[in-house]
Amino acid sequence: MPEYDFDGKVVAITGAAGGIGRATARKFAAFGASVVVADIDLAGAQETVEQIVGNGGKATAIRTDVADSASVKAMVAAAVNTYGGLDIAHNNAGIVGAGANIADMPDETWERGIAVMLSGVFYGIKHEVPALLARGGGSIINTSSGAGLIGFPGMANYVAAKHGVIGLTKSAALEYITQGIRINAICPGTARSRMVDEWMDGSAEAEAQVAALHPIGRIAEADEIAEAVLWLASPAASFVVGVAMPIDGGYTLP
Ligand SMILES: NC(=O)c1ccc[n+]([C@@H]2O[C@H](COP(=O)([O-])OP(=O)(O)OC[C@H]3O[C@@H](n4cnc5c(N)ncnc54)[C@H](O)[C@@H]3O)[C@@H](O)[C@H]2O)c1
Repeated sequence: MPEYDFDGKVVAITGAAGGIGRATARKFAAFGASVVVADIDLAGAQETVEQIVGNGGKATAIRTDVADSASVKAMVAAAVNTYGGLDIAHNNAGIVGAGANIADMPDETWERGIAVMLSGVFYGIKHEVPALLARGGGSIINTSSGAGLIGFPGMANYVAAKHGVIGLTKSAALEYITQGIRINAICPGTARSRMVDEWMDGSAEAEAQVAALHPIGRIAEADEIAEAVLWLASPAASFVVGVAMPIDGGYTLP
């Protein structure tokens, strides 16, 4: 496992009450960062903080609804007020796809998917950039998906939002790289998380079916996705700008 030094760095992570966000929060904290654990699920965010503090790390929880611009602005303010600034942000909150084809998809289901997973990332970048500039630069990592690279039936709200995250990431990367902010996206394949556990409902058969879709022959642990986020945020990725990095066991290759 690579070693990182995030001592003195402040990291804000949305959707950090579980899954990929929690794994990323724990890892950043383990390498010395102070972490703002943001989620609409405050109890889950507080549990992430307890885990981090229990391991000797620094973290604080805040209830944040990424679909609400003011709420995301307050998350950034919390980072600045609690830890003195913001260096790294992981815009990661998400919800499950529709489970319906387009003709049958309620407008509200479409709108919520776009609000959380596309506007949520827009609000993130918008409010994080000024704080990062105040520190002289930094890094933003947005969570897209394999569904940001290829289509899937029955979840057009999710697929459209995740494709949009890649467009947002590229535009933002071009807008801010000359000011020292590197902005990239990750595109995970299926990773064990609350969302995926709920969807597979504890069925070994369902997991085997999903695993078989990944050329590597298994699904990921959330920690394997977190590894990529830390690398992208670290100086090791200093020349990496605006990429949409698949971390998917080969899922999107065929
Ligand atoms: N696990 C996978 O297989 C997989 C694959 C590709 C992409 N992703 C993406 O990874 C991200 C993390 O998901 P996960 O798999 O860890 O699932 P998860 O359900 O464990 O985490 C998602 C978190 O987002 C939070 N959230 C939902 N709506 C929110 C809102 N409006 N404001 C703030 N927080 C909100 C949830 O409470 C939850 O804690 C999501 O964007 C998801 O689309 C996951």
